[in-house]
Amino acid sequence: MAKFLTVKEAMKKGKGKVALRGWVWRERKSNAYAFIVLRDHTDVIQCVIEKDKVSKKIWEDTEKLSIESSLELEGTIKEDKRAPTGYEVHIDKLNVIQFAERFPIVKDQSPEFLLDNRHLWIRSRKMVAILKIRSTILGAIHQFFRDRGYIEFSPPIFQPTQSEGGATLFKVKYFNDITYLSQTWQFYAEAACFALGKIYDVSPTFRAEKSKTSRHLTEFWMAEMEAAWMKLEEVTEIAKEEIRFIIKEVLKKHKEELKILKRDIKLLEHYAKAKYPTITYDEALKILKEKYKMKIPWGKDLRTIEEDKITKHFNAPVVVTHYPTETMAFYKPPEPKKPEVARCFDMLAPEGYVEIVGGSERSLDIKYMTKRLKAMGEDPKNYSWYFDLRKFGSVIHSGYGVGVERVVAWICGLDNIKDAIPFPRTMLRKSP
Ligand code: 4AD
Ligand code: MG
Repeated sequence: MAKFLTVKEAMKKGKGKVALRGWVWRERKSNAYAFIVLRDHTDVIQCVIEKDKVSKKIWEDTEKLSIESSLELEGTIKEDKRAPTGYEVHIDKLNVIQFAERFPIVKDQSPEFLLDNRHLWIRSRKMVAILKIRSTILGAIHQFFRDRGYIEFSPPIFQPTQSEGGATLFKVKYFNDITYLSQTWQFYAEAACFALGKIYDVSPTFRAEKSKTSRHLTEFWMAEMEAAWMKLEEVTEIAKEEIRFIIKEVLKKHKEELKILKRDIKLLEHYAKAKYPTITYDEALKILKEKYKMKIPWGKDLRTIEEDKITKHFNAPVVVTHYPTETMAFYKPPEPKKPEVARCFDMLAPEGYVEIVGGSERSLDIKYMTKRLKAMGEDPKNYSWYFDLRKFGSVIHSGYGVGVERVVAWICGLDNIKDAIPFPRTMLRKSP
């Protein structure tokens, strides 16, 4: 066979002989013709086999072709407005690599069935579009930080303590002892930023989330940054710039995939350019009360419907700072002039996706953190190495984490975060 082109390359060529290889995406046969829609990693294309124009062997093979059979073919490509992607290949030669067994996935199957068959469903046009966008998002995160002089720093994934609350820790047997899976890179990043200045990383993160929401995974990827000398007011601006950069990169490369996903491209273009406001928790309560008659008692966490109202109000992602200190992690410092709130922030995405980023300045006060840890039932002795960082040239520093799947789900307009990761893990699912 001649040199194989991808489906996209063949359509670009547009005429003459082409050799293609891939899988049967759709097939329809009659006595004289067979229409095979071929799929590869780039697109799909309609191919026609005419009984009278091919050998007996080819026609016999054609008759046995079923969904997901793998094949190589040679033929002539030409434009055809009626074909699903505007081109058609008239097949001369066909080499079936494998006749597939009956493919279990047919139309209109339940999300659970598709998750049970994720190893096969991953070939769907929807999943392929999402996974390509995910790859671009990951690449954009690396590019964003590297272009700005950040150093990639790899934290350990086995970690000896909690950092984001003991309730969601995954305990792991570690020889004759136990350890935990990482909930965040943060403590290690705080150590490293005093060595490397500005750092970032994207790595797997684990939380034993009992919530069965469309926004929680037990294994997800977090893109985090940490920087010495940086204050809350600076990191919130970096987070905004990062999110806008990610959206711009996706728009640059994935109009086609966004169309497959039926995503509103105009809206994404707006998010790529919009100003993202920063408001305090107190201001958020005020807007909710005055504009939407939603009265939230001070100190209560904002619920999804309330966070969603805030983003609707501004029609853009919104950074909310200064949440009540009491409800926050022990390392988030109280605002000196108003200690009941902490120097921390969340970024909320519109359209109900809400929290996509969480971050803060870091407390430098060993006494304060010791008190908070004790109140949580933690033994401060286990945090002595973390406290060391406050004893040897301690300087102000801040950082944040972006939930990669939350961003993928939002940009792709997905109903559920499970489709934002190839093989999702939740409380009720750990396979395939
Ligand atoms: O807000 P979180 O818990 O912040 C931290 O862990 C900080 N230590 C990060 C830092 O400052 N370096 O988590 C950060 C983000 C959330 O905003 C959310 O987008 C995502 O991680 N996230 C989850 N995504 C999917 N499933 C879960 N169970 C998630 N938990 C958090
Ligand atoms: Mg958070």
